[in-house]
Amino acid sequence: MAERPIVIYGNPVLREKGSRVEEIDQETKDLVSDLMDTLRRARGLGLTAHQIGVAKNVFIVDFSAIDINETLRVFINPEIIETSDDLEEMEEGCLSFPDLYMKISRPRQVTVRATDIDGNRFEITAQGLAARAIQHEYDHTQGDLYIDHVSPLTRTMIKGRLKKLAAAS
Ligand code: NI
Repeated sequence: MAERPIVIYGNPVLREKGSRVEEIDQETKDLVSDLMDTLRRARGLGLTAHQIGVAKNVFIVDFSAIDINETLRVFINPEIIETSDDLEEMEEGCLSFPDLYMKISRPRQVTVRATDIDGNRFEITAQGLAARAIQHEYDHTQGDLYIDHVSPLTRTMIKGRLKKLAAAS
């Protein structure tokens, strides 16, 4: 399959609630393959189907970018099972918002359940950057974006940047 253009903020698909994947058929496999090709080229940590224009509940996170003993994982129909009460603030970016990095507070730990590309259900608990990546990509499947997590003050400050992005998309 192939690399696809990454959808930039302003495109309404990013605000759509993703639909459930009912069957891991060839179409789903092609979608995942395209996500992998696109993420590799973009040198990102994670990518959701919405970001290549498909509002489906599918994302990938390349955990090998965080820990060389880890691998890229595919999350189909993900559900967040649990998040820790303790929060952590970290600088965050998104491939759909080129060059816009912001400090965002999120739960330090997350447990997620999903289906892999072979149709097996799995559950993982992650911390730190891995937990952050999972939450960020999960948000995309819900039509939520990292800018929704910033303070009203920061939101006001980035208003102009967002307008420019949306105008160019
Ligand atoms: Ni993103």
